[in-house]
Amino acid sequence: MKIVVAGTGYVGLVTAVCLTEVGHTVTCVDIDENKIKMLKEGKSPIFEPGLEEIMLKNKDMLTYTTNSKEAYKNADVIFIGVGTPEKRDGSANLKYVYGVAEEIAESLEKDCVVVVKSTVPIGTNDKVEKLIKNKVKKGIKVEIVSNPEFLSQGTAVRDTLHAQRIVLGVPTKIAEKTMREVYDEFNIPYVITDRPSAEMIKYASNDFLALKISYINEIANLCEIVGANVEDVAKGMGMDSRIGNKFLNAGIGYGGSCFPKDTKALHWLANFYDYELKTIKAAIEINANQKLKLIKKARKYYETFENLNIAVLGLTFKPNTDDLREAPSLDNIPILLEDGANIKVYDPVGEKNYKKIYPNELKYCKSIEETLKDTDICFIFTEWDFVKNIDISEFERLMKKPIIIDGRNCYKIEDVKKYNVIYESIGRKTINNI
Ligand code: UDX
Repeated sequence: MKIVVAGTGYVGLVTAVCLTEVGHTVTCVDIDENKIKMLKEGKSPIFEPGLEEIMLKNKDMLTYTTNSKEAYKNADVIFIGVGTPEKRDGSANLKYVYGVAEEIAESLEKDCVVVVKSTVPIGTNDKVEKLIKNKVKKGIKVEIVSNPEFLSQGTAVRDTLHAQRIVLGVPTKIAEKTMREVYDEFNIPYVITDRPSAEMIKYASNDFLALKISYINEIANLCEIVGANVEDVAKGMGMDSRIGNKFLNAGIGYGGSCFPKDTKALHWLANFYDYELKTIKAAIEINANQKLKLIKKARKYYETFENLNIAVLGLTFKPNTDDLREAPSLDNIPILLEDGANIKVYDPVGEKNYKKIYPNELKYCKSIEETLKDTDICFIFTEWDFVKNIDISEFERLMKKPIIIDGRNCYKIEDVKKYNVIYESIGRKTINNI
């Protein structure tokens, strides 16, 4: 079976590499020559634990190329795993998906199953089908399958190899049979349905998780007002198996490449059909406010941040990734800079991408100690292990004024209480021992 994957981002590359784990040989296509060059050298262009190891182990089963036409022409199955970024109006930009679909149609010289893995609005697979069928050479049969992914960055390899379900929106039994040949070896339960339902499963799942986070964030905000502890509240809720204990960590809002984009895209789609998705609208609004919560808390101590020395721990949207998309740090740091603060940051993995946005405005530190030294306040935007493992006494020892504004509840209140610090977190009591 000749499998080709279009796009070597998180979705495409992880899919391709995991397919080799069950014995398939896969050709990865990308228009970015630098990425292909890196891949050929055995290096992953994205930071994803475990990915490079499998890439190297199965290198004989992986080919990388920018010559898409050549790759597509004799393929049995082509996965489309290119980006669907957000447009200014909140809708999904499908130009890359349609671009690949057109190229596939022009290149194919035999029957093929085209699998849309990118997250696309409901109805897109049907449009891809029309587009390909209009352009493909006469006599060639193409089937379009919707097969959304559910991988999280940082655990993408595990999430793919041990997924909880494989969703297949299939137009025919023949297409289903081909997809089973691709996936049977994974031994993961299937959800077989039509294409619009498969597309909807993806959005409904992501938006539900985003909603769950926004819900616990609202509860956290109320906990602060009434003097309750959101961690205990979440624990108590989560022990009810109907609710579940996952995605109940209160914080400064969800970021990343999926939740912000997918909530807006579904809301936009509903609006397009004159339907208002009130729950998702609320989740979007709550998240936008939540992202700025730390600044509000910090203003209790300093009206302005002008000339203050500020420490920032964590830049990425979550730990174990170098991805900055929709990271709360990107909402907060511009405000601190606008006020005229001197900012030291520490995030060894996120630093490289951050430097592309802020090459000179921030001081990139090499250690926690260097970051905290002589600062007036410290913001925590990401719960990296290196942050969670800091001995709290270090804040007291190193900072000029140990005010810690923690957006990810990295420390236990009981532990913090022992030190002479001010500690603000999310949905829990403020500790003020100064
Ligand atoms: C998410 C989905 O989990 C995945 O299934 C989908 O395919 C893509 O989107 P990802 O964006 O990689 O994956 O990260 P995830 O771990 O889900 O976290 C998303 C955001 O939510 C992060 O900013 C994280 O900090 C935040 N989050 C998550 C919380 O604030 N609280 C939680 O309890 C969980």
